[in-house]
Amino acid sequence: MCGIVACIIKDEASTVLLECVRRLEYRGYDSVGIATLSEDLYIKKGEGKIDEVQEKIVLTDIPGNMGIAQVRWATHGLPTGKNAHPHTDCQKRIAVVHNGIIENYKEIKNSLIDEGHIFVSDTDTEVIPHLIEKYMDMGNGLEVATRMTTKDIKGSYAIAAISADEPDKIIGVRKESPLIVGVGEKEFFIASDVPAVLDHTNKIIYLNDNEMVILTADGVIVKDDEGKVLEKEIETIEWTSDMAKKGGYKHFMLKEIHEQPEVVKNTLMEYSEIEKVVQNFSDFKRVCFVACGTSYHASLVGKYLFETLLGIPTDVILSSEFIFSEPSLDSDTLVIFISQSGETADTLKALKVANKKSETLVIVNVLGSTATREANHVIYSRAGPEIGVAATKTYVSQLVCIYLLVIALSDDKKLLEEIKKVPDRMKSAIEDEEHIIEIAKKYKDATDFFFIGRGFSYPTALEGSLKLKEITYIHGEGYAAGELKHGPLALIDDDVPVLAVVPPGQSHDKTLGNIEEVKARGASVIAVGSSEDTVLRSEAHDFIGFEADITEMISPIPYVVPLQLLSYHISVERGIDPDKPKNLAKCVTVE
Ligand code: F6R
Repeated sequence: MCGIVACIIKDEASTVLLECVRRLEYRGYDSVGIATLSEDLYIKKGEGKIDEVQEKIVLTDIPGNMGIAQVRWATHGLPTGKNAHPHTDCQKRIAVVHNGIIENYKEIKNSLIDEGHIFVSDTDTEVIPHLIEKYMDMGNGLEVATRMTTKDIKGSYAIAAISADEPDKIIGVRKESPLIVGVGEKEFFIASDVPAVLDHTNKIIYLNDNEMVILTADGVIVKDDEGKVLEKEIETIEWTSDMAKKGGYKHFMLKEIHEQPEVVKNTLMEYSEIEKVVQNFSDFKRVCFVACGTSYHASLVGKYLFETLLGIPTDVILSSEFIFSEPSLDSDTLVIFISQSGETADTLKALKVANKKSETLVIVNVLGSTATREANHVIYSRAGPEIGVAATKTYVSQLVCIYLLVIALSDDKKLLEEIKKVPDRMKSAIEDEEHIIEIAKKYKDATDFFFIGRGFSYPTALEGSLKLKEITYIHGEGYAAGELKHGPLALIDDDVPVLAVVPPGQSHDKTLGNIEEVKARGASVIAVGSSEDTVLRSEAHDFIGFEADITEMISPIPYVVPLQLLSYHISVERGIDPDKPKNLAKCVTVE
């Protein structure tokens, strides 16, 4: 949801800025822009994805060894060149890039217009350079003027600002939007996310809300909102720049799907850490999972696990709806937040609410993200950086963490042995990719799809349907198979394929009955189940088989793989870029 970077380096900054911001393109691709400083302030920006804009106007021919850049996911103002960042003041001496939303921008804009400021965009961001200008015109330096600006604006922001009047520094500041500082050898960076700077440094400072960083050629100083210098730890992180590159794959999404067997192995190594975390829990009688999107589907699997294996009543609530559950929270409830990014605004808001009354745990992939600093306990899902907008490997790593959590809380450790065979089973699903490509070709022109499953397979159906919607633009409905007859069966006919998730186990026969029902209405059925399941195989028009030793309880981890691959290949067949689906961004930092 918008990505910003800034750097002071020894060489020309524009090329480096473009490469850094390219690593953030998963956060937005409505427009891109760069500003650099040498004797003057230079700005280049345009509408569209980075490659499209670079081809049209060449963003990298502006001089200077320091600058700022942004990729935009439009919130206020259309995704046009006019609204692209950086934005400037009246005199075009100050340039600002921003991620977040300035909630009171209209009032500020109106009063600045009354004072004679002229605005050229429809964005909320543009008030920031104008406020900085106003305070600099009063005799303040860029740092103080930016601090004064932050006292006027309400909402969420990560900002980087430069001024031609002080061409030796960059100011960065954050509140409720992520911002990290990269500390290299005589080169210094600010970015929305770590992968942006990994080609240059793995030494990172994580900024907290209301902290400001001042970058100069000599180093980095972090201050609080009153201007007091803070001692900040520089952390060395394990992610490498190769982890954030495509590595020969056509798309990040495909690479990330293929990485999943390895990811599961890595996450399994977290078991001893998870055992330690569990020892610090107070007693709890109820669990409440809170998350959005794909992380919500992982949470649903958590509900089935906590209730069937531990007998603990468990709710799963969407982060944006969580506020309504506040009255039912108490000290007997453990609230578990699931978030790949640790920066999702809805989830962070819900975390603040839960912290008031209950113990909180977050399962998160991004080290140092805001959620890790707000929750009482943290479990890292260790999937490595995920760049494709659609979550894949982070979903399976979240699932593995939830299984390990339940195993750590249980006296029965048998499930641990079962999960260890999952990486191999996932590998065979990936090796079956040619077969899935055939199925993708067959169904690529469908306009509606249903995904059904019961019990542990219901979240898998929901996740399969979400993947299809977001990267193929085909309408998908994920349904509990038993619920079809209560309404949606009216939509089934021979134009609507139904993908049924049917692992061997308790729900198998009932779901088979639902397959009969949709076939009787003309639907083509794609079934995912055990290779030895001859009945299922004969019922289905298309069949994707797994080894028979994958039980219903463990199936959510491997069974999602063919569903991800099916959506990926339908997306490619339809000529869509699955890494950058329209209207979406990876990290949703607005409510
Ligand atoms: C879907 C997807 C989103 C995210 C959701 C929550 O592929 O990626 O639905 O799962 O926006 O994001 P996190 O997990 O970062 O809180």
